[in-house]
Amino acid sequence: MPPLLGLTHLDEAVASPFVRLAELLRDSEPGRTPIDLSLGQPRAVLPNFLGPILEQNLAAFGRYPPIRGLPALRAGITDWIGRRYPTLAGKIDPEAQVLPLSGSREGLFSAIFPAIARKAKVTRPAVLMPNPFYQAYGAATAAAGAEPVFLPAEEAAGFLPDLEAIDQALLERTVAFYLCSPSNPQGAVASRAYLAKAVSLAQTHDFLLFADECYSEIYRHRPPPGALEVAYGETGSAANVAMFQSLSKRSGLPGLRSGFVAGDPAFMAAFARFRTVACPQVPLPIQHVSVAVWADEAHVDAGRALYRRNLEIADELLGDRYGSWRPEGSFFLWLDMSAYGGGEAAAKTLWKGCGVKVLPGRYLARDQAGGRNPGGDHVRAALVHDADTTREALTRIVVSLG
Ligand SMILES: Cc1ncc(COP(=O)(O)O)c(C=O)c1O
Repeated sequence: MPPLLGLTHLDEAVASPFVRLAELLRDSEPGRTPIDLSLGQPRAVLPNFLGPILEQNLAAFGRYPPIRGLPALRAGITDWIGRRYPTLAGKIDPEAQVLPLSGSREGLFSAIFPAIARKAKVTRPAVLMPNPFYQAYGAATAAAGAEPVFLPAEEAAGFLPDLEAIDQALLERTVAFYLCSPSNPQGAVASRAYLAKAVSLAQTHDFLLFADECYSEIYRHRPPPGALEVAYGETGSAANVAMFQSLSKRSGLPGLRSGFVAGDPAFMAAFARFRTVACPQVPLPIQHVSVAVWADEAHVDAGRALYRRNLEIADELLGDRYGSWRPEGSFFLWLDMSAYGGGEAAAKTLWKGCGVKVLPGRYLARDQAGGRNPGGDHVRAALVHDADTTREALTRIVVSLG
């Protein structure tokens, strides 16, 4: 049994960035009608086939859904994987390698438990994650009593953790590595070579690479590579890799709560056993809708076009202000506010000065040893509104900050 290292830090681990932001702005009035860029809630157009499919399957709300999902859903997901990553066509077994999730967050959270259990001899299990990071990784690690290891992901390293810098002894006691590409909050995309190195580390040291790829369909120029295709390409197998996907970002359907995990068959079997007693099923009508949503790309193209347009507006209005970094994937701007007193000060200035709400990067990160916070200088701005609102918000930022 691992020591319950994390539980004493649970409150810190679950300090919501949005609660902290509300606290920061509590005594300040917005300078103008608010525009909220703090929340990455996609607002793409809903596909029109959702309603009729739900209606046809309403009666299925009267039954418990199978935790492993409908065969049609697993097959639909496998087909999507094969279309998105042609080298994986026909390679993924829908029976043994795919599990539906009630949104990817619950899967990212609960997968940590079987990942720890499969390396039960390790006395101080460690979980690697980028810093800044999606908060569910830290909450899962703390709740499972493992030790979180925050790998700084700053501009000098392309906003991804430096894989060469990870200590060998640490790798031996690592049970899982959460890797987010395209990354939230910076929008960095891991290259094939980077993913190959991450897969190789996972296989060599026998930990799980949890590839969080929920932003993979929101890209600027070309589709980002995926950890599963790289694993098959490099090693001919999915060993030690679990790819997490979601309809929340790809399809602009965060309220549907539908995603999946696919990869290492031995891990999927263990995860399925755990899920049977511990995790939420995807309601049957939602499973039926999800089959159709994974099969359709037209609405995904429309969403991607909206986010691209917003990034063009950012290019036009921001130029090289606030650092010159632009995301290759995701819909977030990661703006350098070091000239404006850092992320928290800038978030306050913008709210009071022009009613634009952005998220201080510090709230998505932890201090590294030595006290430096790798998100401290930045704010995250989610460009998920229509083009006119985006233009208005970015114009206000430039006028307010200069
Ligand atoms: C990096 C990242 N991973 C996972 C998720 C979870 O998304 P969902 O549970 O809606 O699939 C989010 C949502 O914001 C995210 O930003």
